[in-house]
Amino acid sequence: MDKKITIAIDGFSSTGKSTLAKQLARTLGYVYVDTGAMYRSVTYFAMQQGLISREHFDKLSLIERLSEISLQFLFNPNLGYAEIYLNEVNVEAEIRTLDVSNLVSRVAEVSEVRARLVEQQKHMGDHKAIVMDGRDIGTVVFPDAELKLFMTASPETRAQRRFEELTAKGQQVTYDEVLKNVQERDYIDSHREDSPLVKADDAIEIDNSHLTIEEQFEKVMLLVQEAAQL
Ligand code: DC
Repeated sequence: MDKKITIAIDGFSSTGKSTLAKQLARTLGYVYVDTGAMYRSVTYFAMQQGLISREHFDKLSLIERLSEISLQFLFNPNLGYAEIYLNEVNVEAEIRTLDVSNLVSRVAEVSEVRARLVEQQKHMGDHKAIVMDGRDIGTVVFPDAELKLFMTASPETRAQRRFEELTAKGQQVTYDEVLKNVQERDYIDSHREDSPLVKADDAIEIDNSHLTIEEQFEKVMLLVQEAAQL
């Protein structure tokens, strides 16, 4: 496959977007960008600076201080994909906690935050050969992507996967807490005013509730081959 393309992957949380995106990037030799990690890092910054908690959110101060946030993806050869750095510090572990998950949708609603991150994301795609996942990639970041995928799975399937992931990392959470978080984020992500999660008209929907990771990958690789030939 000589033609380099842009692959946009959107969908609800815990639909396996990043697993698929990483597999594709590794196989194709493409760059992988996890845009959720960018929204999570901004949220983590706001938490560290005391700008957001369960009780309050100082949105204006966060907007004023956005220029203090520098985000970078650096490839980790041991893992085979890039990890995110917030102001030169690797925050991969810190941004995956349930605390960050519980607050990130509120930060992702802020238009100034979105505008800034979307601008950076568009630049990352300047040379194509990129797989990017998120909520607005096929609709806002890369509306001209050659291949757009929209991933779905039932909330219960997703909560179970997320619960297993978090407990495997030693985090103390219950299945019910995780399900509640998944449902709340679904609601906020798809009802926010700026760039809500919607399927782009030309995106291909993949419901992976009953697909293994291998089955899904094979199916998508066929779509990639088709898109790269067009
Ligand atoms: O994919 P994730 O669960 O790590 O994303 C974290 C949050 O960031 C999610 O609740 C929605 C938001 N997000 C977004 O609004 N736009 C994106 N392109 C990616 C993530």
